[in-house]
Amino acid sequence: METKWWHKSTVYQIYPRSFNDSSGDGIGDIKGIIEKLDYLSLLGIDVIWLSPVYESPNDDNGYDISDYYTIHEEYGTMEDMERLIKEAADRNIKIIMDLVINHTSDEHPWFMESKKSTDNPYRDFYIWRDGRGDNLPPNDIQSVFSGPAWEFDEASGQYYFHLFSKKQPDLNLHNETVRHHLYDMMKFWLDKGIGGFRMDVIDLIGKEIDHGIVGNGPKLHHYLQEMHEKVLAGYDVMTVGETPSATTDMAKLYTGPGRNELDMVFTFEHMSLDEVKGKGKWELKPLDLVELKVMFCKWQTNLHQHGWNSLYWNNHDQPRIVSRWGNDQEFRIESAKMLATVLHLMQGTPYVYQGEEIGMTNIRFESIDEYKDIETLNLFKEKIKEGKDASDVMASIYAKGRDNARTPMQWDASQHAGFTGGTPWIPVNSNHHSINVNSAVEDPNSIFHHYRKLIAMRKEMDTIVHGKFELINGDHPEVFAYTRKLGNEVILVIANFYGRHPDFILPDALSFERAEQLISNYPDSPVDPKHVQLRPYEALVFKLCGVK
Ligand code: NOJ
Repeated sequence: METKWWHKSTVYQIYPRSFNDSSGDGIGDIKGIIEKLDYLSLLGIDVIWLSPVYESPNDDNGYDISDYYTIHEEYGTMEDMERLIKEAADRNIKIIMDLVINHTSDEHPWFMESKKSTDNPYRDFYIWRDGRGDNLPPNDIQSVFSGPAWEFDEASGQYYFHLFSKKQPDLNLHNETVRHHLYDMMKFWLDKGIGGFRMDVIDLIGKEIDHGIVGNGPKLHHYLQEMHEKVLAGYDVMTVGETPSATTDMAKLYTGPGRNELDMVFTFEHMSLDEVKGKGKWELKPLDLVELKVMFCKWQTNLHQHGWNSLYWNNHDQPRIVSRWGNDQEFRIESAKMLATVLHLMQGTPYVYQGEEIGMTNIRFESIDEYKDIETLNLFKEKIKEGKDASDVMASIYAKGRDNARTPMQWDASQHAGFTGGTPWIPVNSNHHSINVNSAVEDPNSIFHHYRKLIAMRKEMDTIVHGKFELINGDHPEVFAYTRKLGNEVILVIANFYGRHPDFILPDALSFERAEQLISNYPDSPVDPKHVQLRPYEALVFKLCGVK
């Protein structure tokens, strides 16, 4: 497979609202990002994925866009954005923007026109249907943010479709004019020199509402190929699709060489392994490590040479990984490094979400009033209405709420963690006194420097980029171990996922002359990987020489 620049890259996601506030209004901004580019350069990342900075009433923090061509004044100006692209490029960093085209804000001029009358030229830009009589919506599809996915419009007597909040009406991508407007908008940004797009819930754009099809509609791949031909083919950029419903077979269609669709997609399969099957994200069960290994093995194997993986533990929609599958107390540092090691040495493009590189943890606000996320607030209202106990609902929110990832970036130990000189839009985690960038950069043994090393290793070792993945001792309930092989080079990763001391014995079939240690998360780690008793969350990585 021909090596593309993004095969060797690591992406860093910035949630601008919570990254760095340069103006003192309590909200992160683009100038604030520019101030931190040297920090990102030190970490060694190649690409920044910027969550939306477009004009928006912020019902869903920017994922409800009212003008695709304007920067929201909270974040700055177009000049600031152009400067960010340039200053990042000066440090060999590309900026990829969030492309939210499944829906707009209800305050987007297209929707405001569309709402005016059934014969308005923009009516068909959105999805309008008659109800079923008796005040019933057209069908029973539910919104991701609770309640029906249909909103009644008194004036025209019809319902419009919104898979997310009612302020996020879904666009009708079956309308060719809509698609062409979107392609023009993509070119506008690409011509400014951005490095590509992260495409929000892109698997929904082929929906066939009248047939109850939401994800993976019959025309989805046709639209993506059209987008490639009309827009992307003209630029050397990277694209990553958010595809909650993707299987590996679907991922091969999206990302297979020569398919001319996307470069990679985000799988969600690993993100649902701590949920009770079929009960949605809030009903929790403990993670079964064997399931996690089987799942990763499937993606690594099926996409090897047939597509490309994105590797992530975190983003702005997920709880913090060290709190979720690590130990954010006694073994915070060890477990954060272990999780990073397991992920970054697989095949694919790794994504680091702001604060992950210093081991930031989940938040527990006492009162629901301190939460800001629309999904969390709607859930709380709905569950209380259903008669659920408030403390049970809060327990789910503590574990899975999206605000876990959205508290301000912890830069230093000062008030508000150096994020703002004003009052932050959402409170800072009080653990910023000990968990912050300043102390992480100063400490050579910090989580930050571990990430830095992993990111650098990917650039230096082709085996990390192209090697074949093989699971070892797949049914071991506590240890995640695998090899990556390319030619004569073999990398061996052994990681203890829990706080106990399991034995780990390498299979005899893996015979070699000498093992060279590449990275580990304890200072005095064992030098022979054949038989080890692992310490809590210990992660060991070796290069095996003289493999037979
Ligand atoms: C996925 C985004 O990541 C999430 O934050 C947003 O709420 C929905 N798509 C709707 O745009």
